[in-house]
Formats: sequence, structure tokens, C-alpha cells
Amino acid sequence: MNSQKRLRVMLVVGTRPNFMKVAPLIREISKYPQKFNWFLTHTGQHYDEGMSEAFFDDLGLPKPDIYLGVGSGTDAKQTGKIMVEFERICLKEKPDLVVVVGDVNSTVACAFVAAKLCISVAHVEAGLRSFDRTMPEEINRIITDQLSEYLFTTCDDANQNLIKEGIPKNKIFFVGNTMIDCLLSHIKTVRDSIALEKLGLRKDGRIRKYGLITLHRPSNVDDPETLKGILNMLNELAKEIPMIFPIHPRTAKQMKNHELTDVMTMPPLGYLDFLFLMSNAAIVLTDSGGIQEETTILGVPCLTLRNNTERPITVKEGTNILVGNNPDKIMSVAVNVLRNGIPGKKKPKYWDRKVAERIIKILGP
Ligand code: UD1
Repeated sequence: MNSQKRLRVMLVVGTRPNFMKVAPLIREISKYPQKFNWFLTHTGQHYDEGMSEAFFDDLGLPKPDIYLGVGSGTDAKQTGKIMVEFERICLKEKPDLVVVVGDVNSTVACAFVAAKLCISVAHVEAGLRSFDRTMPEEINRIITDQLSEYLFTTCDDANQNLIKEGIPKNKIFFVGNTMIDCLLSHIKTVRDSIALEKLGLRKDGRIRKYGLITLHRPSNVDDPETLKGILNMLNELAKEIPMIFPIHPRTAKQMKNHELTDVMTMPPLGYLDFLFLMSNAAIVLTDSGGIQEETTILGVPCLTLRNNTERPITVKEGTNILVGNNPDKIMSVAVNVLRNGIPGKKKPKYWDRKVAERIIKILGP
């Protein structure tokens, strides 16, 4: 790269789990104004206050320089809309490098546009594979990795997956996990702003044992029978231990005809509130990708309501247990974990506060 010229870097975010992956990169890239001229584009895939703006506030992210406002739609409509809008931006702004994170539709759409315009693509969180192509994210991961020049990985199984897919070794950089860089940078500032007292979860200054739920995968929430089975199970589990459930908008839509009598429900929470709840939980039930990783670092038992994971390191080295979506199975594992806990596990390599530093060093001109 030309050392005389500042590198024009377009960072892309689109959905809730993107914001905490980009925040450490912005913190780091901002330290080198002589080397980088960077911009932030938000595709607007997530647009509700609670799914987007709240995260900008909590993470101290700057307002996006460019907002595409694409919103929701079918997979193809949403991806296509992002591509059309992002192409227009790339032609105007002429970045040297586009940085995408994670595996959402915004990730693949922007990588596709950049690659076709011969702009280098850096993919943060490359190489993860669930080997389940019924997940839209798996398709997004494979395509994005094929199109990228810099593949930043979080773990060794990701390196191996990429090598098996024919990606040259010199494009693969094992740097660690930016989501964990973000968590470790914020964990000391989390606070009880949702007032656990009000939920009956704190008495005489002491926090009671409780469980935390998140659900949004189409495989769990889009089929009414599957969703009903899970919700009934959650009602049962809430008789054993108080359960808190901040509800994702996709799930809220599908839940219109169901009642959660015993579970405490609430709208989606901001980053710091959720981190507070997660770090103090006795158990987390989720189908999220990132939460499997965050609970591993926090040492909190995590039951993942899926049959597979693109993050097997969280099972092997962390606190994650795959339980699928059979209500009886989930219930019995949950009761067992609450009674017996889980064996002590270790912290995956490079899941520390230096991940963004490693990435920006590699990208630097
Ligand atoms: C998306 C990602 C998923 C990620 C998740 C995190 C894809 C294919 N999926 O799923 O990988 O784990 O984000 O949350 O990119 N909605 C709102 N307000 C919003 C956003 C969404 O009401 O701000 C509702 C809309 O009804 C929308 C639905 O949620 O149709 C789904 O949103 P979408 O962005 O398509 O996918 P997610 O389920 O959020």
C-alpha cells in the first residue's frame, strides 16, 4: 500500500451484533489519523431505537457518516437493497478498503459490492462454520470469506475451515475476538440501571439467582408449534427460578398469540444493561451467536437452543451446551445445570483487549 497516502477505510455496521464488533476497531483506528481516513456506514438493517441507537449511545460510537436506511424485508429484498445503496456510496466515496463484521445480510451485501468494484474487503470474524446451510448466516459467512482479502479469525477451527475452503494462508490472520475486546473494555462500567429491586431480584443488597433468555432465530421463532413448545417450557422453568426475557422484535411479532405467564418480559435492552444482566445470571438460554461467546468469557452457563454452532470453541473450552429446541431436553439440562453447575473452563486464546489493536496494525499502511 502507498505509505504517502492515508488509507480510506469504510467500516460497515447494520445490525445489533455488529455494533460491539466495530466499536473496538473505531477506538483503535482513531488513534492513527495520519494513517487512516475512515468512515462509518450504517445500512439500517436494524433501525428500532432499542436495536440500534441505544447501542451507539452505550458504546460511545460516533454517528454514522452514512445511513442507508434499508430496513426489513425478505432476505433477497433486504440484501439487494443494501447492495444498490452501498454501490452508490462506494462509487462516491471511493474507499481503498471496506471492513465488514459478522455474518448478517449487511455483511455479505457490502462485501459483494466492494469486491465487484475491486475494493479490498476485510472480514472480521471470518471462518466460522455451522455446516448448516439452512441458516441464512452460513451462506453469508461462506460468500463473505471467499470475497475477502483480509480474513480475521477468532479461533483455530476458523483457520482450519478457511484452509479447507482453499483460502491462501497469507490472507488469514488469527487475531482473536473483537466482541470480547468490547466486553472486556466495558464490563467495569456496567450498572444496574434496570433496577433489579423492581423485578424482585435484589433483596438487602444481594442479587437473587435468576435466568436470562434471548430468542430470535427463525428456526426457533418462525414456526408457531416450535415457538409454543419453547414458551411453555420457559413458563415451567420460571417456576424453578425467576426468568427474564428481553424480546427481539422478530420474536415479539411471532409471540402475539402466546402468553408467558411466569416469565418477566421486556423490550430489547441496551448493551450495558444486557451485559449487567448476563454477567449476574445463574443461567442463560439463547440462540444468539455472540452470547455463546460472551457467557464463555463471563463464566456463566449457557444453553444454546440450536443443534449446531459455528462457535464450537465455546462448547469445547467455554461454558456453552447445545440443547436443540426440544422442550423436555432443554428443561432437563437447565435443571441439571442449576443444581450442579458446569465444570470450570478456560478462556480461548486471544480473547482479550488487544484484538482491535492487532487488526489495525495489520491493516495499517
Ligand atoms: C438479524 C441477522 C441475524 C442476527 C440478528 C441479531 C440476517 C440474515 N440475520 O436477524 O444473523 O443474529 O439480526 O438481532 O442478517 N425488526 C424490527 N426492528 C428492527 C429490526 C428488525 O422490528 O430494528 C423486525 C422486523 O419485523 C424484521 C425482523 O425483525 O422483519 C427481522 O429482522 P432482520 O434484520 O431481517 O433479521 P433478524 O431476525 O433481526
